[in-house]
Amino acid sequence: MYDEESNNLDMPCVLNIAESTHQMGKLNLIPEYSYGLSETDNCLIQGDNLHILQYLTKHISGKVKCVYLDPPYNNGESYLHYYDNMGHDQWIENISKRLLIIRELLSSSGSLWISIDDSELHYLKVAADKIFGRENFVSTIIWEKRTTRENRKAFSRNHEYILVYAKKASLWNKVRNTLPLTKEATDRYKNPDQDPRGPWQSVTANVQAGHATPQQFYTIISPSGKTHNPPKGRCWVYPEYRMIQEISANNIWFGKDGNGVPRIKKFLSDRKEGLVPETLWRAETVGTTSDAKKHLLELFSEISLFDTPKPEQLIAQILKISTNPGDLVLDAYLGSGTTCAVSHKMNRKYIGIEIGSHIRTHCASRLVKVVNGEQGGITDSISWIGGGGFKFYKFEK
Ligand SMILES: C[S@@+](CC[C@H](N)C(=O)[O-])C[C@H]1O[C@@H](n2cnc3c(N)ncnc32)[C@H](O)[C@@H]1O
Repeated sequence: MYDEESNNLDMPCVLNIAESTHQMGKLNLIPEYSYGLSETDNCLIQGDNLHILQYLTKHISGKVKCVYLDPPYNNGESYLHYYDNMGHDQWIENISKRLLIIRELLSSSGSLWISIDDSELHYLKVAADKIFGRENFVSTIIWEKRTTRENRKAFSRNHEYILVYAKKASLWNKVRNTLPLTKEATDRYKNPDQDPRGPWQSVTANVQAGHATPQQFYTIISPSGKTHNPPKGRCWVYPEYRMIQEISANNIWFGKDGNGVPRIKKFLSDRKEGLVPETLWRAETVGTTSDAKKHLLELFSEISLFDTPKPEQLIAQILKISTNPGDLVLDAYLGSGTTCAVSHKMNRKYIGIEIGSHIRTHCASRLVKVVNGEQGGITDSISWIGGGGFKFYKFEK
């Protein structure tokens, strides 16, 4: 299960990505855009992600735990900071080249998360299946990106998608984190009988009779004297001797009046596992595009607003599921810097790549604020207080 963050920024610096021993190009450190602790693996790299990803294969192959990609969706929209209208074939070829390299960079328990909308989702799925293998496709998440109606189009598009792939799904399914219990989930636990072990919720005490043994068919007599038999086609979950033990240990609930169908009490204090992530990510949990824009406006009222930022809560949810503190996160289409800001606050190492000059005006300045203890986005939920640092490089071929 996902562990609350430790805010321990004392992580050894091990990646040495700027030590170039090959001809693919080099990373030039730009000290005036770097900030905070200099002993850090965190970095922003300005340049074309194709060349930079190729360069990184010499340094971090098999080391990246989570890659998040939020490429231009090729939906024909025009944005202030980047171009989003490539020919379809070119777009697929472009992203496929990058996915091939990203697969190499991922660790054996690593995963890839790609944001996308209707325009290219299905084509991207086919292209990514070819590279990762259909058996390594994990899921398609639906993210509710807006809660208001958009009246300009035939349908108001209130959601988009996140495609999830694992380097090796059979392994990833075992190591991925569950999510912390929500208030809604803990509120389902009550204590109507004032049990000293604390709140509990009840689950059915009967199961399908398919694989039952004869010991699972018997009559239960409730404390009030009422008799209960398992429903047709079902049997009791325990054999009779065990059911008697559970009843005397006050682990079976017969309703307030003692006449109800027997049910098993499950205590909140015994619950070890968190919540299995669901595929529908609601705005109320992970935020909307408009929340992300409001956050950017609070950060930078003085510079042009980035059109398509993701909310910090959305990226935090991805990192909670796919990584642990100290793991390496890569974003090859950094935009306004959300993935790096969230990774920094959650104590993950990160590499953010962005071609546009907004990597200086938006990403680097945003991270300076994060290092200084910036108060927006996920800050409250993880008690972020600041610290750490990052390096800024420009890639030269
Ligand atoms: C949709 S935005 C990402 C938004 C980001 N997730 C955020 O929260 O702000 C896509 C970004 O990819 C960048 N980009 C497009 N092609 C690129 C390339 N070849 N190399 C690096 N960055 C690229 C664009 O400049 C743009 O900033």
